[in-house]
Parts: sequence; structure tokens; C-alpha cells
Amino acid sequence: MEKIKIKVNGNEVEVSPGKTVLQVLKDMGIHVPVLCHYEPLMPQGSCRLCVVEDRGVLKTACTTPVEPNMDIKTDTPNVINSRKLVLQLLFSERNHYCMYCEVTGECELQDLGYEFGLDHFEFPTYERRFPVDNSHEFIMMDHNRCVLCRRCVRACSEVAGHFVLGEMERGIDTMIIADMDVPLGNSSCTSCGLCAQVCPTGAIIDKRSSYLGREVQSEIIYANCDMCPVGCGME
Ligand code: FES
Repeated sequence: MEKIKIKVNGNEVEVSPGKTVLQVLKDMGIHVPVLCHYEPLMPQGSCRLCVVEDRGVLKTACTTPVEPNMDIKTDTPNVINSRKLVLQLLFSERNHYCMYCEVTGECELQDLGYEFGLDHFEFPTYERRFPVDNSHEFIMMDHNRCVLCRRCVRACSEVAGHFVLGEMERGIDTMIIADMDVPLGNSSCTSCGLCAQVCPTGAIIDKRSSYLGREVQSEIIYANCDMCPVGCGME
């Protein structure tokens, strides 16, 4: 198939038509942050973390196919600021207080927080409490940790072919549900565990692995007492 020419960060490259911008950037070794994207799931372009600039327009790299004359830029202030804003909004929605999370640092959202240097909540956090579904023998669903990437829903249907997980409501009220909104333990879940495997946060976890995240993840920081409930004032 005839290759097409595009520019990436000022360099002209020839790429195969049919690929997404993300695939091309990945082939070139250019890091692009992603959250909703997970191969081999179908890309859905919902988190907006992978945005790149093409001739002044922001586009999601994971869902945009390459086309002739694209002029992709991955590191402009517009791109970096947009990604950071998305991340700040995600952290302010639901409960993303990482220090109290069962996955203990084994979290893609937290990794992104480090990558973008987030050291405080930029926006007021959404205080509403969502339910925790502990009804399943092996899997716990904590909707407070969910970023609505829908990886679990897609993995359950596209990969496992089980069609157990789905979603209901809209916007901030969106909830991942099992079957017609029954507790996961009472649903037709086969305990394959794929949902926990693809979940980027602590929203769906294998109960037996909780608090077994990274062995060591510590560094000395100056306490930010706005966030800390203890109030010791120590380093
Ligand atoms: Fe592309 Fe989420 S990774 S929009």
C-alpha cells in the first residue's frame, strides 16, 4: 500500500495509511500519555489525554487516522496544558486520594500525576460518595476510584465476550454496572478477572492483591497540610 507523508514535530516521515496517529507516534518511540486507550481494545477517545496538535487543532491521537499533509506536534504548550488540565479535572472528580488506595501505587492515574508534576488538587474535589461493591468473592468495585475510561466494559465484551459489564446514567453520574445493575457477586460474572487487569486505577481490583502494589514507593516531600488530615506538620 502506498505510504503517505506527514510531519511529526517538524520531521517528515512516511507512514502506512490506516494507522492511527498514536500508532505512528508509538512506532517512532514518542511517548504519548493515554488512559482510556488499551490495546487490543477498540479505541474510544474519551479521556482526551492523548491529544496532539495538527495544524493548530487538538486531536486525540488514539482515534485519529493518519492522513496526508498532517503536521503533528506532540509537545507544544497547547498540547501539554490541555493534557494537564484533563488530568487535573480527573483528579478532582470522585475520590483520588492516592495515599488511601488499595492498589498502593500500581495505578496509571497516579503515574500520570507524577509525570505531569501534580502536587495539589487544582480544582475543588467532588465530595459525593459513590458505592463500593464488595459482593463478589474475588473482585471489588470501588466506584469512587473510577475514571470512566470503560476499559473494563470493553474488555468484558470485546475480549472476554461475556457482556456482563455495562454502564448507566450519564456524565458525572455514570456508573459501571453488572448485568442490569445487580451487585457484581450476584451477576453473571465468570470471575475471569480481565476487568481488574485492565482497570488503570483502584476502581476494580482483585481483592487478594490489595495493598500489594509496588514494593517500595517512598520519597521525602514537604507536607502539604491542605491535603493531609493528620496535621502533624512534619516533612
Ligand atoms: Fe486517547 Fe483516551 S487515550 S482519548
